[in-house]
Amino acid sequence: MTGLPQIPPADPDPMEQAPVAELRALQTERMAWTLSHAYANVPHYRAAFDEAGVHPDDFKELADLRLFPFTAKKDLRANYPFGMFAVPRDEVARVHASSGTTGKATVVGYTKADLEHWAAVGARSLRAAGVRSGDRVHIAYGYGLFTGGLGVHYGAEALGCTVIPVSGGMTARQVQLIQDFEPEVICVTPSYLLAIVDEMERQGVDPRSTSLRVAVLGAEPWTDAMRAEIEERLGIHAVDIYGLSEVMGPGVGNEDVAEKDGTYLWEDYFYPEIVDPETGEVLPDGERGELVFTSLTKEAMPVIRYRTRDLTRLLPGLSRPMRRMERITGRSDDMMIVRGVNLFPSQVEEELLTVDGLAPHFVCVLTRPGRLDELCVRVEARDAGVDREAAGARLAYGVKEKFGVTIAVDVLAPGGLERSQGKAQRILDMRDMRDTSDTSEMRPTEK
Ligand code: DLL
Repeated sequence: MTGLPQIPPADPDPMEQAPVAELRALQTERMAWTLSHAYANVPHYRAAFDEAGVHPDDFKELADLRLFPFTAKKDLRANYPFGMFAVPRDEVARVHASSGTTGKATVVGYTKADLEHWAAVGARSLRAAGVRSGDRVHIAYGYGLFTGGLGVHYGAEALGCTVIPVSGGMTARQVQLIQDFEPEVICVTPSYLLAIVDEMERQGVDPRSTSLRVAVLGAEPWTDAMRAEIEERLGIHAVDIYGLSEVMGPGVGNEDVAEKDGTYLWEDYFYPEIVDPETGEVLPDGERGELVFTSLTKEAMPVIRYRTRDLTRLLPGLSRPMRRMERITGRSDDMMIVRGVNLFPSQVEEELLTVDGLAPHFVCVLTRPGRLDELCVRVEARDAGVDREAAGARLAYGVKEKFGVTIAVDVLAPGGLERSQGKAQRILDMRDMRDTSDTSEMRPTEK
């Protein structure tokens, strides 16, 4: 994309310029500490290591990590709320939690040192995204138990920015504050940024006329097609930020604004592996599978080989010793199987952005009228003049051609779908419902 704002230069962290061998040595040292710390202080890890017949002393080099057992979300749930903590309660400086729409919430904890490390990776992430000391940073990620708002907040402060802690929601006010406070940066989910852009247009504000230079977008899967849409409509850089609460929060990795070609994982803090989601076998770099993390510095809640369910592959670093990951296709839990063929919402997004007349607001409605699953994509027309039937037919044709899946498409009038104010929920699963003939009243809800 040409004509985007210039990004001022910045100095990276020394570790971002270190030789790979130095990074591997640091990882090895930190990994040995983490395994011992987890084994000594968390009954779950002691039991799991004992059961697998491994001991932290068996760890001599990074390749030995595969001897150790995985950790899954169910382990965190089983130890709800504080059973995975490795430090005395009075050393826990903060807790966050996932909202737990299915089952119990998962709780995570941080010591003071953990919070400092989080702010450091947050600052590094934002700097990679093109944020600079002195910038005003509008944060529209939710504040609270969700890690998005507070995580990015302390990262931006550590970088020396002026933080505008707006949180999510009240979209008209978001637009007002962007105009009045003139931030250079907005941190928000891509789906909510689109809702803010729609609101700008509704108010007669030209989205390309704002003070913004960079949008730091994450917390949900999004595609390069969506990046092009956002960069075009706002005339700003759209950069990916990745993270998950179990591992830390936002800032586990970030794209480089000059490259926009994969998300650097901050490997001096979080060690990544890619495994076969079925067998758990470790896959070589470059192969697609499930991303797994071992924390390297975390005191309050170390995680050993945590299964993220995020599907991606690892690529070599271009300008840093850290590896990059390819944009996440989706979570293994979000994979839809329609008449035997796998499909992710991100693939629907990619295709629908190629169809003139369709807006990037959509939800995949799964039903099971007979014995087979059916998918209806509900999407909005860009404006009232669009031939909705023809646009819907083009999307159905494109998905069939590219991914081999037969879908129905329901093109609604502009504004017909509820907007996300945080993470968009792209799948509405109605397969367990008796009467699946009428989905018109069903609205996706926030996670
Ligand atoms: O979403 C942390 C975060 C906040 C990241 C703000 C970035 C910005 P959780 O609520 O624990 O934490 O959800 C983590 O969200 O496993 C992915 O499935 C998904 N996710 C997060 N970032 C991205 C991204 C936060 N950039 C889960 N691309 C992760 C794709 C993402 N998926």
